[in-house]
Amino acid sequence: MAEQLERQRERAPARFGGLEYAPAPEATDHVTIRSDHGLLIGGRWVEPASGRRFKTINPATEEVLAEVAEAGEEDVDAAVRAARAAAKVWGRMPGAERAKYLYRVARILQERAREFAVLETMNGGKPIKESRDVDLPLAAAHFFYHAGWADKLDYAFPGRRPAPLGVAAQVIPWNFPLLMAAWKLAPALAAGNTVVLKPAETTPLTALRLGEVLLEAGLPDGVVNILSGAGATGAALVGHDGVDKVAFTGSTEVGKAIQRTLAGSGRKLTLELGGKAANIVFEDAPLDQAVEGIVNGIYFNQGHVCCAGSRLLVQESIAEPLVDKLKRRMATLRVGDPLDKNTDVGAINSRAQLDKITELVASGEADGAEAWQAPCELPSRGFWFRPTVFTSVAQSYRIAQEEIFGPVLSVLTFRTPDEAVEKANNTPYGLSAGVWTDKGSRILELANRLQAGVVWANTFNRFDPTAPFGGYKESGFGREGGRHGLAAYLDLS
Ligand code: NAI
Ligand code: MG
Repeated sequence: MAEQLERQRERAPARFGGLEYAPAPEATDHVTIRSDHGLLIGGRWVEPASGRRFKTINPATEEVLAEVAEAGEEDVDAAVRAARAAAKVWGRMPGAERAKYLYRVARILQERAREFAVLETMNGGKPIKESRDVDLPLAAAHFFYHAGWADKLDYAFPGRRPAPLGVAAQVIPWNFPLLMAAWKLAPALAAGNTVVLKPAETTPLTALRLGEVLLEAGLPDGVVNILSGAGATGAALVGHDGVDKVAFTGSTEVGKAIQRTLAGSGRKLTLELGGKAANIVFEDAPLDQAVEGIVNGIYFNQGHVCCAGSRLLVQESIAEPLVDKLKRRMATLRVGDPLDKNTDVGAINSRAQLDKITELVASGEADGAEAWQAPCELPSRGFWFRPTVFTSVAQSYRIAQEEIFGPVLSVLTFRTPDEAVEKANNTPYGLSAGVWTDKGSRILELANRLQAGVVWANTFNRFDPTAPFGGYKESGFGREGGRHGLAAYLDLS
């Protein structure tokens, strides 16, 4: 016994005062994953005409979870045709009828939340406590919220005659696979459009399962079609001339390519791209709360968040104590098995993303910034990156300019509010920002001057379907959520 205690003490890091967490794994036996998946076209699961398939893995173990179909041009064409045919039914259906389906989808998602959360974590690497407490409730909330609008479009836009656009092509990323699907589908459907959705290549499983939910809800055939595949599938979809509207969330590089494809076509486009948000902390801010907000801002979802607070701008007078507090807090972050309920930081989504993070962190060190990493043991298999903070960062460094999309924070300092605004706006992006201060007037002033679609005050990474979300500059254009998001799926002439 004494020997055992001794061993425990050795393993237990001092920061827990000698206490050790027992593993608290979420069970996976209630989630069955079929070994191969088809494409959802016209209300049926079909084999890909392309004949191609690819494997999807668990990034925490590198284990293959399933094979999915890779949709080719012929499949894209079939899906767009199915959506076009269904538009006649869905677009003309009374809004109150459309709402019934959306409410049903929301309720089924709530009922099957545990299964979805586990699958999301297995396929994407995010901590189960985040899939369970953030992704799933928000995905259901998006369907509930937009169901409420479906029969009230005339009230949402008084004096206009809102009509659906037709067929929407939606391409989504891998950082919030189910939530992005819900976020894109719900407003499109509420507004009377039909959809062809393409999930990201590393995380297709929850979107495909959402397809099952849509069938279970009795959604008319072809209203939503789901095509798994990679960039080529996405390019074929957004370039298809049977599409009336394109909505994309992903990298700025691909967003620009899509904009070029659509230029002059008259088709509507919304782009939600990258970010390099400033999280600005003034000397009068409540520091302990700010530390929680900084941690949530950059280490939530491994930093795979377009609106992540990846640049900490701290007023010079409090820079030292704040960074000390931050490091102390970072040392308590639990990194590892995403299925463990105590895990704070899970697996990096893919090897490619891990390579990108590693390369950018190396550039930061080469430039002369000082890196500090939370002391933690990383599992031997899978893709992992230690929560990292950089100090002595100059604005010109790549780690201060480029989206790292990983658990890496760059700290910069400022003296005056003007300098804070200038530095905050000094990136090609403009998606989000955070302001921490005791002064309400300062919050309002900064919110007006920051070039960011979303400005959080004394909080960070808060999402709600009623609040429009979207960017400025190279972060894209158009808004998602709220009445603004609905407008992006309607002809308001
Ligand atoms: P990506 O932009 O290539 O992928 C996002 C989605 O677009 C995926 O579904 C992908 O299959 C699709 N896609 C790729 N090429 C396409 C094309 N030519 N036409 C149409 N669709 C296409 O992003 P990737 O390569 O996965 O990540 C690279 C970087 O992009 C990340 O490191 C991060 O900085 C940023 N990113 C930003 C996201 C955001 O939420 N704003 C989400 C994902 C990535
Ligand atoms: Mg890419």
